[in-house]
Amino acid sequence: MSTLEIRDLHVSVDTKEGPKQILRGVDLTIGSGETHAIMGPNGSGKSTLASALAGHPKYQVTSGTVTLDGADVLAMSVDERARAGLFLAMQYPVEVPGVSVANFLRTAKTAITGEAPKLRTWGKEVKGAMENLRIDSAFAERSVNEGFSGGEKKRHEILQLELFKPRFAILDETDSGLDVDALRVVSEGVNRAKASTDVGVLLITHYTRILRYITPDFVHVFVDGRVAEEGGPELAERLEAEGYDRFVGTGATMA
Ligand SMILES: Nc1ncnc2c1ncn2[C@@H]1O[C@H](COP(=O)(O)OP(=O)(O)OP(=O)(O)O)[C@@H](O)[C@H]1O
Ligand SMILES: [Mg+2]
Repeated sequence: MSTLEIRDLHVSVDTKEGPKQILRGVDLTIGSGETHAIMGPNGSGKSTLASALAGHPKYQVTSGTVTLDGADVLAMSVDERARAGLFLAMQYPVEVPGVSVANFLRTAKTAITGEAPKLRTWGKEVKGAMENLRIDSAFAERSVNEGFSGGEKKRHEILQLELFKPRFAILDETDSGLDVDALRVVSEGVNRAKASTDVGVLLITHYTRILRYITPDFVHVFVDGRVAEEGGPELAERLEAEGYDRFVGTGATMA
């Protein structure tokens, strides 16, 4: 049983006009096997939270703590965070021209676990995971994300989740732009990872649709750089029906 603990996290981003405060005291605790959904208006800082947890250099933690089983995540390099078991599926995955999916997966797996996966079993594992996610085998030889459709990029993120077996996965709008079939396939991938590895999941989304497939234990409403309200799955339904007015109408809007 592991715990990812975010305490009073303040983060600013470097902009041309200087640092801009985005996160203003985020508190969140995620345990192994738990699924937490974060919902909130555009620009409220959800992706900033994901980037800060991943160690993106543009995002400066100005105060607060992030610990994984007590270990200081903020003191770790990006690589060390991955080795410690953190995984981030980005809202806009980057293209890596010249690096094939097959090479990328094996290199990343080696970097995360500290040893090269055995060729034969690894090949089988990759093939099986790709089949499960309905990813055509030809993708293994294509450059990472280059020319991938939106849905193909998201499936490739879940392929990594299934193969890398992180302790905690942050999925930033993994459902955006997916057709109904792809949404089901991707959700099944997340659920397989949950069932087989007890991964803790932080799911950032705008839609309750994905939450019908991946049931959250907790729903957090993110407004103006912090968690404004917490509840169970019923809170997501309420947000879909009512919107965020009752949170942002109270002077808590972004400047
Ligand atoms: N690199 C950056 N440079 C300038 N501003 C930034 C940068 N990153 C984030 N911001 C600003 O921080 C705020 C929060 O952005 P963020 O992407 O975290 O929001 P979000 O909640 O993920 O929104 P969405 O639901 O639209 O994805 C926005 O006003 C955004 O413009
Ligand atoms: Mg975002």
